[in-house]
Amino acid sequence: MSSLEELERIREEALVELAAATTTDALEAWEARIVGRKGQITQLARTVGQLPKEERPAFGQRVNEVKQALLQAYEARLDEVRHTEVTAQLAREAIDVTLPGRPVAPGHLHLTTQALRELYDIFALMGFEVYESPDVELEAYNFDLLNIPEYHPARDMWDTFWIEDQGGAESSGRRLLRTHTSPGQIRVMRERYPEPIRVILPGKCYRYEQITVRAEHQFYQLEGLAVGTGITMTDLIGTLQQFARLYYGADREVRVRSSYFPFTEPSVEVDTACILCGGKGCAVCKYTGWLEIAGAGMVHPVVLRNGGYDPEVWSGFAFGFGVERPSMMKYAVPDIRLYYGNDLRFLRQF
Ligand code: FA5
Repeated sequence: MSSLEELERIREEALVELAAATTTDALEAWEARIVGRKGQITQLARTVGQLPKEERPAFGQRVNEVKQALLQAYEARLDEVRHTEVTAQLAREAIDVTLPGRPVAPGHLHLTTQALRELYDIFALMGFEVYESPDVELEAYNFDLLNIPEYHPARDMWDTFWIEDQGGAESSGRRLLRTHTSPGQIRVMRERYPEPIRVILPGKCYRYEQITVRAEHQFYQLEGLAVGTGITMTDLIGTLQQFARLYYGADREVRVRSSYFPFTEPSVEVDTACILCGGKGCAVCKYTGWLEIAGAGMVHPVVLRNGGYDPEVWSGFAFGFGVERPSMMKYAVPDIRLYYGNDLRFLRQF
């Protein structure tokens, strides 16, 4: 068989094979085998030197023609096969965007958040607006300005998490995680003077203390502060009573007994009848039948003055509720540790 005949044979066979190839992989293999560097056409072209001289130009020209024609046929077939492949892939992976989506479980508010919002609503009815103050506090606001100087024994009432000295704080004093929301009283007074004030101050408090069924080392408080002219203890008691009526209902017993806080004079504590034991006594109420839910009192003259208000003219009351404890007494939660234990079986009940 002459070289030209051989060329035609390869061409015809190659075209048949090309038409039969149905995948890009098969096509690439075809290309390597026929027109690639080691392909049959390339090999044949190299034999040109063995031909008689006069046959060489015609053969060379024909090899090039055949190679070009085969490459063109290859490109065209490759386009076809790719198109078929992509169409098949699109059909396989088609998404029906009209189908309904997977349902998303929206979750719900944490019991503490629910309790806080309920408290906001109750105090809003009595004209209190929400005022927020920082979690990381200066020692002066948490203690000194509230009439608790450094060596005052009352500091022992609040075991404190101190923030390590971060340098550059000398001018403003030591920092701590607030042990109660009362430092916000000074902040709001200094900001609002000489306006009358009626605010609640919600926030997390931090104490380095033993965790028990009734005490956490992080818990929420809701502070309240009213400053005006002619505010008396009766206003405080009335506010506390109204709170108890709206939060617990009219028949829940709430009592106010005298107590001591350095920043109020006189001071009281508010207890609610323990609903866990019905007054018989249990671990939560320390076997007294009552659980303390708030401290309160008339704002001490020193504190009014530190806030910028002249105690000869102004008077006020303040209270500091826990948030978890009052809600334990509403929903009969037997252990404060359930609030932040993240046990969904508990949280889903609210
Ligand atoms: C105070 O923190 C005062 N600042 C309250 C106050 C404000 C008095 C304004 C007068 C005027 P006390 O340490 O008693 O007081 O805390 C107040 C309430 O916070 C408690 O009645 C209780 O409901 C809640 N509480 C205190 N410690 C914890 C704790 N470890 N875990 C959970 N709740 C707590």
